[in-house]
Order: sequence, then C-alpha cells, then structure tokens
Amino acid sequence: MALASHGALARGGVNRQAFTAVDADARLQLMAWAAESGLEPSIDAIGNLFLRLAGTDSTLPPVLTGSHLDTQPAGGKFDGTFGVLAGLEALTAIQARQLSLPRSLELVVWANEEGSRFPPTTMGSSVFAGGMKLDQALAARDDQGMALGDVIELFLARHGELPRRDFGTPVHAYLEAHIEQGPVLERAECSLGIVSGIQGLRWFEIEVQGQEAHAGTTPRAARRDAQAAAMRIAMALTRYFEDEDDIARFTIGRWQVQPGSPNTVAGRVVFTIDFRHPDAGALERMGDAIAPLCEQLAAPCDVLVQELSHSAPIHFPSAIRRLLTLAARDAGMATLELMSGATHDAKWLHTMAPTGMLFVPCEGGVSHNQAESAAPEDLRAGTQVLCNALIRLAGE
Ligand code: GLV
Ligand code: MN
Ligand code: MN
Ligand code: MN
Repeated sequence: MALASHGALARGGVNRQAFTAVDADARLQLMAWAAESGLEPSIDAIGNLFLRLAGTDSTLPPVLTGSHLDTQPAGGKFDGTFGVLAGLEALTAIQARQLSLPRSLELVVWANEEGSRFPPTTMGSSVFAGGMKLDQALAARDDQGMALGDVIELFLARHGELPRRDFGTPVHAYLEAHIEQGPVLERAECSLGIVSGIQGLRWFEIEVQGQEAHAGTTPRAARRDAQAAAMRIAMALTRYFEDEDDIARFTIGRWQVQPGSPNTVAGRVVFTIDFRHPDAGALERMGDAIAPLCEQLAAPCDVLVQELSHSAPIHFPSAIRRLLTLAARDAGMATLELMSGATHDAKWLHTMAPTGMLFVPCEGGVSHNQAESAAPEDLRAGTQVLCNALIRLAGE
C-alpha cells in the first residue's frame, strides 16, 4: 500500500510508468527498506536494480528473484509489485534468521516490464539476458516522440550513486512470484499456482497513411481516408483471430488518429496489435497473416506493418517446478499447475538459468485495471513458498 502511493490514481489504481519520476520514487522507497536488512544495491545501464544479500561463497553465481515496479497507465497495486515485495520479505526473513547460505540471493527490479510507454514489454530483462541490444532499447520512443536514450540518464541519476552492474552476469536460478492476472486459481479455490510456462507473444504497430482532406467537400472517390482503411483492417483482423476454441488472444490496445479533427478526413492512423498464443506453430502462422491482410485491405491508402517484438511460448524446467511443489509441501500447501497468459521477465531469465514462477490468485482474475486486488492470506502463502524455495536453491 505504501508503494501504491507512488503514482496513486483516484480510483485506487496506480500510474507508475517506466522511467518516470514516480517509478524512481518507488525504487528509492524499496532501497530504503532493503537497506534496513543490509541488502547491497547496484544498477545496470538499462535501469535493472539489484539488491544483494551476500552468501558465504562469493565465487558462486547468485540466485535471483524479483519482478517489476512499473505499471500500466491505469494499472493496479499488485502486478509486478507483489513479486518484488515477496522477494524483499523473503530476503529480509533469511537475513534476520542469519541462515548461512553459500549462494548470494539477489532481489531484482526489472526495468520497464510493461512496455506501455517505451515498447516492447519486458525490456529490462531482455537486455540483461541478451535478447535485445542496449542501443535498440534506447532508441524506443514514447507516444510524445521522446526517445528512451534521452530520459534514461536522469532516471539512473535519481537512484543516487550506485555501483554499475554488467548485463548477462551468471545466474544460478531465477524465481518470480506474481499475481495470476486471470481467474483459474480463484475458481479452483487454490492459493498457489506453479507456472508451467508462458504463452508466446508478438507485438505489431500498423501505420495507415492516407491524405488529409476537407470533410464537407471531398467526394468519396477522391478520398484517401486513413480512418476508413484502418477500421476495415481492424474489423477483418478481429474476425480472423476469432478462433473456435478461444485460445488466440488478439488486442488492439492503442489507436491514434491524425489530425484528429471532426471535419478533416484522417491522414494517418497508427494502431498496435498484441497477439498471444500458447502454441508455437499457431503463433507463427496466425501472426504472419497480419501483414498480408493489412496490405490487401489498405487501398487507396498505404500501410506499413512493423513487428515490435516476438517471443515464442516457453516451458519452465520440470526440476524447478518440482522444487516449487516441494517448497509448497514444506508449508503444508496444495498447488495447481497452470500456464501463464500474461508475459513476464521470467521468460528472458529462462534463456540464462533454470527458472520458475509462482502465482497467487487475484480478485475476479482482474488485472491491468485499477480495481486489481488480492487477499493478504494468498500473498502471504506465495511469499512463504518463495522463501522456502529460495533457501533450497541458495543452499545448492
Ligand atoms: C505484461 O504485463 C503483459 O502484457 O503480459
Ligand atoms: Mn507483471
Ligand atoms: Mn502487467
Ligand atoms: Mn507482465
């Protein structure tokens, strides 16, 4: 609740988009809490923040846990924040018990997980894992045309003087706790989900170019109406992605019209597509159909289709899933295995080290919404199991 005051919105949610002053303020609050437990901070060039509890053998690669503190423009209190605070609580408890563990434990706040301001999503973890080059990330622009490269230095400076970290340093294992953001656990009345994997995700930006013209005088035959073409394309795509089994997830989340005047024919429309599928083949096939459909329906306008990000479905290793199940059993808790519909930083850490995720239920399965909520007893259960699992991994 204290973190939710940084970027608080009137309807109970949070607007704490990546690389803003409030994003930095939330990190300063976290660093103050972490300092009370003696965790040592460091930061890398994309803004991933690390808080380290040193193990007894500094030559061993550390165990990482974490999530993100940035939110959607009208997001909730728990998406990302829960995983960060569960990690802080676990490391604080381990430190307070003075457990002597060989491996260091690091709490990580991944930068710009949401990607709602500077696309793509999971930017910080993908740069850390080598999935994206730093230069490419810094070239990302927000919808005001501001480049990330122009704001990152100020954002990093807001953290004060911190030791600089390299990307891609060895990781022994990574665990991430998160609210489910869907209805499965709540319906099953189960406090704890073991995540089997993350469905694939592709982001596109579609730009339709027409010609601005007078709304009262320009006959239909003379129009190159970008709005009309974009609507045609959007309707056809929506229909194409309505699969019989309701497995494909297709979203047009942003729609910008220029000049956006009631009495001018639109000259330019830019919209985004977020497409997800758990099956790698369907992710390729259905995603590859987008550009041809756009081109077929754009005339008399022009269309430009750009793919902003592309990640295949992943499956977490069975050894980590087993370890999480045992950690839950230690705490006397039942678990349920489920696939993640949302994407997470864990998908990039999965390319570097054995990785796993824990879900706790959220109210009504609602997320990316100001009303997002979760029960304290479920958050507590998830935190307890995360802590048990971290102790096992740091002892390896
Ligand atoms: C990240 O929040 C996502 O869109 O899954
Ligand atoms: Mn999240
Ligand atoms: Mn999110
Ligand atoms: Mn996410």
